[in-house]
Amino acid sequence: MARLKLGVLGSGAGSNMQSIVDAIDAGTLDAEIRIVLADVQDAKILDRAKRRSIPCRYLDCAPWKTKLEGPAEDRCIEILRSAGVDTVVLAGFMRIVKPKLLAAFPNRVVNIHPAILPAFPGVHSWTQALDYGCKVAGVTVHFVDAGTDSGPILVQKTVPVMEDDTPDTLHARIQVQEHIAYPEALNIIATGKYRIEGRRVRIG
Ligand code: GAR
Repeated sequence: MARLKLGVLGSGAGSNMQSIVDAIDAGTLDAEIRIVLADVQDAKILDRAKRRSIPCRYLDCAPWKTKLEGPAEDRCIEILRSAGVDTVVLAGFMRIVKPKLLAAFPNRVVNIHPAILPAFPGVHSWTQALDYGCKVAGVTVHFVDAGTDSGPILVQKTVPVMEDDTPDTLHARIQVQEHIAYPEALNIIATGKYRIEGRRVRIG
């Protein structure tokens, strides 16, 4: 299989992007990050990219606050295409992506979500799990479809919920698994040893 050419979209700290960079450095993931885009001007993910000399840009998504649509979506597709991206990685990107982007990269947009889907889609999923009284929580890496956090699942990992957990301690425990799960999921795509059958991703 050819080396993956990744375009990473993020809004925040970029620790998941960092885990992908680290896996590439360690030789456990055959990929390169062609471009990093953030919808928040001072997002740390951009600093991390700059530190590694990875091309990066702020993407102004106004006037919308929760989705990537219209001229910003067109610009995003254009930037990803001109960077030669073949796989779009949502790494803490806090916007809904719309059908036009999905059509531009069919079955090649992946997302990481801090919950065991289909439980707790949307925002602050770890707080939702804690408030619900769950005894386990976790992370899902999935292909993105037209729904919210609803596409075919590539990798899931669980963590225990401790009696004295706060939202922050639970999220931190989930993030440790996120940083294992994302490189693992991208490696499945990189090796091409999977097929999507309806909702199921058959691996191997
Ligand atoms: C991660 O916990 C990721 O799962 C979550 O945002 C955080 C980003 O962290 N994503 C979502 O909630 C998407 N709905 P990072 O910027 O350090 O990678």
